[in-house]
Amino acid sequence: MRILDEPGNAIMRPVVMLVTGAAGFIGSHLTERLLADGFDVRGVDCFTDYYDEQIKRANIRDSVASTRFELVEADLAVDEIPPLLEGVDVVFHQAAQPGVRLSWADGFTAYSERNILATQRLLDACRSLALDRFVFASSSSVYGNSDHYPTTETDLPRPFSPYGVTKLAAEHLCAAYAENFGLPTVALRYFTVYGPRQRPDMGFHRLINAGLGGPPFPAYGDGSHVRNFTFVSDVVDANVLAAITADIPPGEMLNICGGGEVSMRDAYALVEELVGSPIPREQRPPASGDVNRTGGSYHKAHEVLGWAPAVDLRQGLAHQVEWHRHLVGMPAA
Ligand SMILES: NC(=O)c1ccc[n+]([C@@H]2O[C@H](COP(=O)([O-])OP(=O)(O)OC[C@H]3O[C@@H](n4cnc5c(N)ncnc54)[C@H](O)[C@@H]3O)[C@@H](O)[C@H]2O)c1
Repeated sequence: MRILDEPGNAIMRPVVMLVTGAAGFIGSHLTERLLADGFDVRGVDCFTDYYDEQIKRANIRDSVASTRFELVEADLAVDEIPPLLEGVDVVFHQAAQPGVRLSWADGFTAYSERNILATQRLLDACRSLALDRFVFASSSSVYGNSDHYPTTETDLPRPFSPYGVTKLAAEHLCAAYAENFGLPTVALRYFTVYGPRQRPDMGFHRLINAGLGGPPFPAYGDGSHVRNFTFVSDVVDANVLAAITADIPPGEMLNICGGGEVSMRDAYALVEELVGSPIPREQRPPASGDVNRTGGSYHKAHEVLGWAPAVDLRQGLAHQVEWHRHLVGMPAA
């Protein structure tokens, strides 16, 4: 059943959404939102060892209890893809090997398999289907260190890390399948996503953890680098809009970024304020692959999807701090 054919975008049921990487940070939030909106969801994940599998099982626990959710444990780089796509209307391709720092040296094998090969296999299996949309989770890392800010989708991407190279390759694959076969792909370039369930290797997760009694925070560089943070519910909203909005040209790319940029030094101060105590840090040299600045314009996403970020950094971080307090069994602030 198609979801975009109805006058006025009326959505008919049952509509089946495929979420790859459904047990991950962003995929698990997206899955919950789609279930809450009344869709049937098939989640695919192979529970890679990038971080603890038990964290991913906990992420997806509530969704697994729903009768409208089906979890399929499959590896997109290896396993047969067509059965995963049976009856599917929309694909949200979130599965990937994330993170910049491990993408050098031998680590690159996993990045090329999980980010490039897996995406190509999925796209190829989709090309003969009448999908309503194929939404790809891309990344601000495709830009690298830009000549000017905010970056826009017409700027030449020049990734600064092997991870960014693999995300750009996957984006180009989406565009190639769109141009050759009319596959209705749209790539959403997420800018550093944060919120409850943020991956344990990510900055705010480690910082808040350090503030609540965990190991000291490894602070890479002098804190002057700037990031454009995006709260996870805003990213989920963008995905849903990318699925249900009619008339998106196949192969489109859109920045999905929070409302403002902040230096890591100021972000540390804000987290310390929210946690209510100084946070122990261990100074480290800048990490290879970390860009000096990310900062995007969401003008095009606003034009195409009517999307704009709704959650500011203070609000979003307060939610994340509460989630961490709950995890470690501390009372809410
Ligand atoms: N978190 C961010 O700040 C951020 C920023 C930009 C882009 N992204 C992109 O968003 C997506 C989700 O990121 P996340 O932070 O939720 O990561 P995550 O690691 O929490 O989730 C990814 C999930 O994909 C699964 N997976 C990996 N390879 C797979 C394969 N071959 N087959 C099946 N499952 C596989 C993993 O087991 C994991 O559960 C990724 O594509 C990432 O590149 C994330």
